[in-house]
Amino acid sequence: MTEEGKKFRAAITATAHFLPDKVITNADLERLVDTSDGWIRSRTGISERRFLPEDEPTSTMAIAVAQELLARREIDPDDIDLIIVATITPDMIFPATACLVQHAIGASGVWAYDLSAACSGFVFAVATGAQFIESGAHRRVMVIGADKMSSILDFEDRTTCVLFGDGAGGVLLERGEDEAGLIDFELYADGAAVECLHIKGGGSLYPPSHETVDQRMHYIRQEGRTVFRFAVEKMAEVSASLLERNGLTGADLKLFVPHQANKRIIDAAAQRMDLPPEKVMMNIDRYANTTAATIPIALAEAADQGRLERGDLVLMTGVGGGLTWGSTLFRWGD
Ligand code: ACO
Repeated sequence: MTEEGKKFRAAITATAHFLPDKVITNADLERLVDTSDGWIRSRTGISERRFLPEDEPTSTMAIAVAQELLARREIDPDDIDLIIVATITPDMIFPATACLVQHAIGASGVWAYDLSAACSGFVFAVATGAQFIESGAHRRVMVIGADKMSSILDFEDRTTCVLFGDGAGGVLLERGEDEAGLIDFELYADGAAVECLHIKGGGSLYPPSHETVDQRMHYIRQEGRTVFRFAVEKMAEVSASLLERNGLTGADLKLFVPHQANKRIIDAAAQRMDLPPEKVMMNIDRYANTTAATIPIALAEAADQGRLERGDLVLMTGVGGGLTWGSTLFRWGD
């Protein structure tokens, strides 16, 4: 929506994140697959990740984030108009995990839905949620990114199992009173590249069967090099493009909050925008790739560390399965 078409601004008024307590180090994974701490660190920047207990679902983390957002903003669950959860690891195929969050926090009369865009999920969801505020339809939208990646990892496949972790993060979007809020976004999808990143089994194409399980089709598969090249290109391209069309450069940014898939992907994007390390949020070393959760976790950490002040420009960029990619530009509020 153009600036002129917006009735209101969608401002981020609270951030929150949740990480499971259990730390899995690279050395722990060395015991499961033929890998090494040195390989993982040098190729990805990852030192450790968090895993949720096996018997706890994604909603556990999303609910914790939702409750924290309410507490931080000191509002009641019924003050929310809509809850969007970005995830590729919903508790169940249906109902939406967002409905489980809605019920758990006691937000009666609030509608809720899931959004599936893999590692771009949060960026897609925050841009989508903002539309309801900008149009005047809603006052408050909760946007959460949550993934329990440990539930879809093949711990016999060293090319994927070392890359991911579990976590959740989220923001509260509210009708802004001033210039703070979403300035612009660019979002893209290209379904032609489905083969290079997917989970093939368990859906309507290959419903779960002994055969799909025997063939381990319920686990994430990827062509690492193809995804890597794509991510390097698109993360830099969409970030630079969004800045450029708003008459900005990296020098105008306070913080770049990229999807955390690989340190080398982030470094390449930062280089393209001429960003010094202090302007780039990086926590992949501690949490690995939590898919839809990486960006809101990083944003919440940055906010908690006092790295954002009123008026600061924040660029959030995601690239992931679909393939999908996109970027949002916000002016920070109080
Ligand atoms: N430990 C040790 N060796 C490994 C491991 C491992 N965990 N995984 C792969 N290798 C080996 C490979 O088998 C290969 O061996 P070979 O040369 O004998 O065939 C060698 O390491 C090099 O493999 P490459 O795939 O070329 O390594 P690369 O430098 O490309 O790094 C990686 C692989 C980390 C997967 C990288 O391609 C990557 O990050 N891709 C992006 C994937 C991604 O992040 N996907 C997540 C979802 S999408 C997203 O978030 C953007």
